[in-house]
Amino acid sequence: MNFELTEEQLMIQQAARDYAQRELIKDVIERDNKAEFPTQHVKNLAELGFMGIMTDPKYDGSGMDTVSYVLAMEELSKVDASASVIVSVNNSLVCYGVEAFATEEQKQKYLKPLASGSVLGAFLLSEPEAGSDATSQRTTAEDKGDYYLVNGTKNWITNGNSASTYILIAQTHPEKKHKGINAFIVERNSPGISIGPHEDKMGMRSSDTHSVMFSDVKVPKENRIGEDGFGFKFAMKVLEGGRIGIAAQALGLASGALERSVAYAKERKAFGTEIGNHQAIAFKLADMAVKVENARHLCLKAAWLKDQGKPYGVASAMAKQYAADIAMEVTTEAVQIHGGYGYVKEYHVERLMREAKLTQIYEGTSEIQKIVISRDLLK
Ligand code: CAA
Repeated sequence: MNFELTEEQLMIQQAARDYAQRELIKDVIERDNKAEFPTQHVKNLAELGFMGIMTDPKYDGSGMDTVSYVLAMEELSKVDASASVIVSVNNSLVCYGVEAFATEEQKQKYLKPLASGSVLGAFLLSEPEAGSDATSQRTTAEDKGDYYLVNGTKNWITNGNSASTYILIAQTHPEKKHKGINAFIVERNSPGISIGPHEDKMGMRSSDTHSVMFSDVKVPKENRIGEDGFGFKFAMKVLEGGRIGIAAQALGLASGALERSVAYAKERKAFGTEIGNHQAIAFKLADMAVKVENARHLCLKAAWLKDQGKPYGVASAMAKQYAADIAMEVTTEAVQIHGGYGYVKEYHVERLMREAKLTQIYEGTSEIQKIVISRDLLK
C-alpha cells in the first residue's frame, strides 16, 4: 500500500490551495453576506482547468484522476464551499455523466464547452416530492416521435440559473416506474424553461440554487442519454461519483476548520497561557484531527477505487456519510474553540459550520448513504 501522492497530484493540490488561499479568501465573507455568485472566480477556475478535472483532454478536460479531484475539492472547500460545489457539480455530475454514458456526437457538442468551463452544467434530479425518494419522478418526458415533450418542476438545483446545459431526469413510461425514467441533455435556453427565485440558503449562500420549471419543452430525441429507460440507473451511477466530490467538500470544511482552530489555539491566550496549552482545547484538537484524517482516507480510498475501475458505490457512500457527519462535528467544535470570536463572521468558522450542514443533506442525506451501505451488507 502506497500513501504517497504523485507529482501531478501534488501539483493540482498546490494549485487549488494557492488559488483558494490567495484569491477565494479575499471576498468570501462578502459573497456569503450578499449571496453573490462567484462569476469571476468560476472563470478563473475554468482557466486553471478545474471545471473538467477528470475529463479526457480530447474533450478539453484536464485528464487528471479522481484522487486529484479529491485533493482539489478539499483545498477549495477549506475556503469557499460555494465555489467548490459549482466545481463539483460540473465535474462529477455533469462532465462525468456525459463522458461515461453519452454518444460521441453528444460529447463533441456538449462535453467540450462543459469541461473547458466555457459553460456550466447542472444536474436536475430532485423534485418537490422526489428528494431522497428519487424513483418518484413526476416530471414527464412524453415520447412524441422526433422529440420528447417535457413538463414538470425540478427543485434545489445547484447552478440552476447559471448553467447553460442541464442533465435532466424525467419519467417517460410511468407504468414502468423507475425502469421508465430517462436522462436527457437539455439546453437551458430551450423555449418553455423558466427559473424560480434564488433560494436564500443558510450556507453555501453564493452558490446558485433555483427551481427549474418545464412547460411543453421540446427536447430532441438525439439528446436522450443511453437506451430508453436508462435514466434511473444513469442517475445512480453518476451520484456514486458525485458523492466522492461532496465527501471531499465536507472533508475540506472540516480540515479548514481544524487548521483555523490550531492557529487560533497557538495565538489566543487565556488563564496566562495560549489556549492550546489547556487540555480542554488540546484534546478537542486531537479528536478533530483524527476525524479529519479518517475522512481523508475514506475519500481517497473511494477515489482510488474509481480510478482503478473497481466498484466504488459503497466506498463513496461511506466517505460521504462519514465526512459530512464529522464536518458538522468538527466545524461546531471549531466555533466552540474560538468562543465569541467563532460566532462572528470575520473568523470564518461559523460559515464553515453553516456550510457543513448542507453536506449532510445534498447528493443524498447521511441516511441515504446508510441505506446504500446497509443494503450492501445485508444483500
Ligand atoms: N448503480 C446502478 N444501479 C443502481 C444503483 C447504482 N448505484 N443503485 C440502484 N440501482 C438500480 C437498482 O439495481 C434497481 O434496478 P433494478 O430494478 O433493475 O434491479 C433500481 O436502480 C432501483 O433501485 P432501488 O430499488 O435500490 O431504489 P430505491 O427506490 O430503494 O432507492 C436510493 C435507492 C439509494 C434511496 C436512491 O433513491 C437514492 O440515491 N436517493 C437519493 C437521491 C439523491 O442522492 N439525490 C441527490 C440529488 S443531486 C444533488 O443534490 C446535486 C446537487 O445539487 C449538489
